[in-house]
Amino acid sequence: MSGSGAELVVVANRLAFDRVVEDDGSVAWRRSPGGLVSALMPVMRANHGAWIGWPGDTTDETDGAEIEPFEQDGLQLVPVTMSTREYEEFYEGFSNATLWPLYHDLVAKPEFHREWWDAYVEVNQRFARRAAEVAAEGAVVWVQDYQLQLVPQLLRELRPDLRIGFYLHIPFPPAELFQQLPWRRQILEGLLGADLVGFQLPGGAQNFIRLVRSRVGHKTQRDTILLPDGREVRARAFPISIDAESYEEMARTDAVKARSEEIRTVLGDPRVVFLGIDRLDYTKGIFARLRAFAELLVDGELEVGDAVFVQVATPSRERVDQYRMLRDEIDRLVGRINGDLGSIGRPAISYLHSSYPPEEMAALYRAADVMVVTPLRDGMNLVAKEYVACRYDDDGALVLSEFAGAAAELRQAYLVNPYDINGMKAQMLAAARAEPKERTRRMKAMRKTVHEHDVDAWARAFLDALRGT
Ligand code: G6P
Repeated sequence: MSGSGAELVVVANRLAFDRVVEDDGSVAWRRSPGGLVSALMPVMRANHGAWIGWPGDTTDETDGAEIEPFEQDGLQLVPVTMSTREYEEFYEGFSNATLWPLYHDLVAKPEFHREWWDAYVEVNQRFARRAAEVAAEGAVVWVQDYQLQLVPQLLRELRPDLRIGFYLHIPFPPAELFQQLPWRRQILEGLLGADLVGFQLPGGAQNFIRLVRSRVGHKTQRDTILLPDGREVRARAFPISIDAESYEEMARTDAVKARSEEIRTVLGDPRVVFLGIDRLDYTKGIFARLRAFAELLVDGELEVGDAVFVQVATPSRERVDQYRMLRDEIDRLVGRINGDLGSIGRPAISYLHSSYPPEEMAALYRAADVMVVTPLRDGMNLVAKEYVACRYDDDGALVLSEFAGAAAELRQAYLVNPYDINGMKAQMLAAARAEPKERTRRMKAMRKTVHEHDVDAWARAFLDALRGT
C-alpha cells in the first residue's frame, strides 16, 4: 500500500475481483460482475481508491497465507482472508442464516447462535483494521451491506479522522422484527459509527431512526440522529440502480440480437416467452410464480408450445440449509409441472440452474415478452431494471412484486402481491395479452426512470451527501 494511503476506500464483503484458480493451478483475478464495481470504478480511479474485500475463497485453500494488496485496473485491491470456520460462522451463519432472513420479513426462520455472533464480530474487526491501515488522513470510507454493520463503529474508534458512510443493499426491517435479534443494540451502535447511513427506501431509514430512538435512546430530528457527544448521524434513502447505458449498448449489439433470435427459435417460436432470472433464494418468490404459470396452463388460459416459461436460477449460498431445501423444492415442482403438462421436446418450463455472462442475460431479456420478478421481499431488485434498460425497442412487459424496492420507481410495471396467486395469474395474463401500444407506453416511462436514475447518479448522490455531512 502506498505511504500516503487512499482518499476513497470501499469496504465490502466481496472484493471487486474474485480469486480464481485456473486448471493449471495458476491464480487469476476476475472482475466480479456486479454493477457496484462498474459504478464505482471511475470514481475510485479518480480518487486513488482502494477496495477492501473477501476474494471468495478461504485461507485453508490458500494455505493460510494472507494475500498481499495489489493494483489492478487503476484500483488498489486489499484482500481480507477468511478461514473455513469463519466462512461457515460469519458468512453462511450470521450473515446468511441470521441477518438475511431476519431483514427479509422472516420469509425463512432466522437462526440465532452465539458462536456465529462471535465470528461476525471477529471478521468485522478484521475489515475495520484493514480499512484503518489503508485510508489516508481524513479519507472517505464507504462500508457496504449487512455483512459489515459493525465496521463503522469499530473503524471510528481506530480512526476518528475519517468520514464514514454505510449503505445497506437489503431491506431494513420494522422494529417489531428487528428486535428479535439478541444483538440488536450492538448492530445499531455499529451503524451509528457512520456519518451517513443509506437505505434503499425511506421506510428503511424510518425503521432505523425509530429503533435508534427506542432501543439506544438517542434524540432524533427528522433524518438526523443527535449523539450525546455532539456528533450527528444522517439516515436517508438512496435507491440503487444499474449502469443503464452499458446494458442498453450490450443489448443493441448484433451478437446479442442474433442470440436472442436463436433463443426464441430453440424454444420453438412460442407466441409468449415468460422469463424469470434470480439468484436461487427463498426471498425471490420463484415457487409461487411457477405455480401461477402452471395454473394458467391447467386453466386453459395459456397453452404449452404457445407459451413457455424460462427460469434461470443462479446457484447461491449452496451449503446453507434453507437454500438446499429450496433447491429441492423447485427441482420437484419443475419436474412435476413438466411431467404433467409438457409434451415431447416442449417442456412447460425451461429451467436452468446456472449462471451466465451479462451478454447471455441481455439476449434473454430481449427474447422475453414478459419478465416476471416476484420477490416476497427485496431491497431493490436490479434484474427488473436490467430488463427495462435492455428493451430499447420499447417493447416487453414487466410483472413486478410490490415488495421489491424497484416497485417504488417502476410504477408502470404490472404490479403484484406475490402471496396472491390469483392476482399474480391475472397480472401475468394481462401483461401477456397487452396491446403493443399499451406495452410501449409503460416501457417508455420505465426506461426514462431507469436512464435518469442510473448507478452513477446513485453513487454521486451518496458521496456528495456524505462529504456534506
Ligand atoms: C445480495 C447482497 C450482496 C451479496 C449478493 C450475492 O445482493 O445484498 O451483499 O453480495 O446478494 O450474495 P453472496 O452471498 O454470493 O455475496
